[in-house]
Amino acid sequence: MNKTICITGGAGFIGSHVIRHFVNKYPAYHIVNLDKLTYAGNLENLKDVEGKANYEFVKGDIVDGDFIIRLFEDYKFDGLIHLAAESHVDRSIANPNEFIYANIVGTTNLLNAARHIWKENTEGKRFYHVSTDEVYGSLGETGYFTESTPYDPKSPYSASKASSDHLVRAYNHTFGLPMVISNCSNNYGPNQFPEKLIPLFINNIQNNKPLPVYGKGENVRDWLWVEDHAEAIDLIYHKGSDGETYNIGGHNEWKNIDLIRLLCKIMDHKLNREAGASEKLITYVKDRAGHDLRYAIDSTKLQRELGWKPSLQFEEGLDKTVDWYLQNTEWLKNVTSGEYLKYYEEMYGDDR
Ligand code: NAD
Ligand code: DAU
Repeated sequence: MNKTICITGGAGFIGSHVIRHFVNKYPAYHIVNLDKLTYAGNLENLKDVEGKANYEFVKGDIVDGDFIIRLFEDYKFDGLIHLAAESHVDRSIANPNEFIYANIVGTTNLLNAARHIWKENTEGKRFYHVSTDEVYGSLGETGYFTESTPYDPKSPYSASKASSDHLVRAYNHTFGLPMVISNCSNNYGPNQFPEKLIPLFINNIQNNKPLPVYGKGENVRDWLWVEDHAEAIDLIYHKGSDGETYNIGGHNEWKNIDLIRLLCKIMDHKLNREAGASEKLITYVKDRAGHDLRYAIDSTKLQRELGWKPSLQFEEGLDKTVDWYLQNTEWLKNVTSGEYLKYYEEMYGDDR
């Protein structure tokens, strides 16, 4: 069936994997990648699909409401998979406003445009909002986030994502806009911008730079291979029920310090360093303000209703991830030049 689907944030980490998945799997769909190309968006992530007949890139800012309305009128999208966002918690602590514009105003502009072009007929239309488990707040040592866990966001980033989730549900309830939402745990894999834990530490180990562990390294995250997230998004987009929320997670909890030690071990082996060499780079630094202790997702609903499950064991996925970064030094060099150096200086200046 021919459909025109807009994927926002397609030049970013998860978005590029979602674009690749949809472009390759659905040749009859016209996939439009709408991205502003912020510091986190990089068309190099999509080199292998850019020449495909069913793929098109549009540079644009979701915060520009008039532009978004015109775009939706021109393309008459059948569906939207919305990933564009400011996504890094530390940046949201340093500068919350950017998060309010992109994540709240930007999402509202997309909702208004979808409502506008689908007002006569919502048959077969769908607004898919990609969100995060951070909207649920922080867990203690036990328990899991389910779809009915009350929202309790703790950082400007998670508060902006929670706000956008509420708006998407409100447009469904008030205006009948067809939608689904998913809330996913921490993703890892190729093409992740090296401000996030795993690629930042791979890059630093390679360059013999300190590994800045926040606090005591005791915070826990639930890690999911990024292609498993793309597969879940495909399933939910096509088979999820209208108005529903689905949690996506790896059932793969790691204390930061244990993950970092495993990463150091893998890197020692790949770089032919003596055992224990990379661990010596570990440096405990001031904790992140308001640092959430633990995230863990219960994805039973997605597994039971749509048959999804993660495909990769973490050790295998981490090994593949390290290989990708070691083989793509040009990519890493390009994204860590210019603006990145300024960010790094501001963020970690004292600990370098
Ligand atoms: P990312 O920062 O790597 O990419 C974000 C993309 O959005 C970039 O390409 C950027 O250019 C684009 N963008 C930002 N502001 C824009 C704007 N105003 N207009 C148009 N494009 C804009 O992010 P990511 O890690 O790939 O996350 C993608 C989505 O998934 C986000 O909505 C995030 O909240 C959500 N999510 C991420 C994770 C994770 O672990 N990374 C987990 C769960 C959910
Ligand atoms: O849970 C989903 C979320 O996961 C997504 O919604 C976010 O977009 C994504 O950035 C991620 O948020 P986190 O804050 O969990 O990811 P980050 O990679 O920034 O940090 C992971 C853990 O590592 C966290 O406990 C903080 C810690 N950390 C991070 C950095 C960058 C450090 O100890 N040192 C660091 O330098």
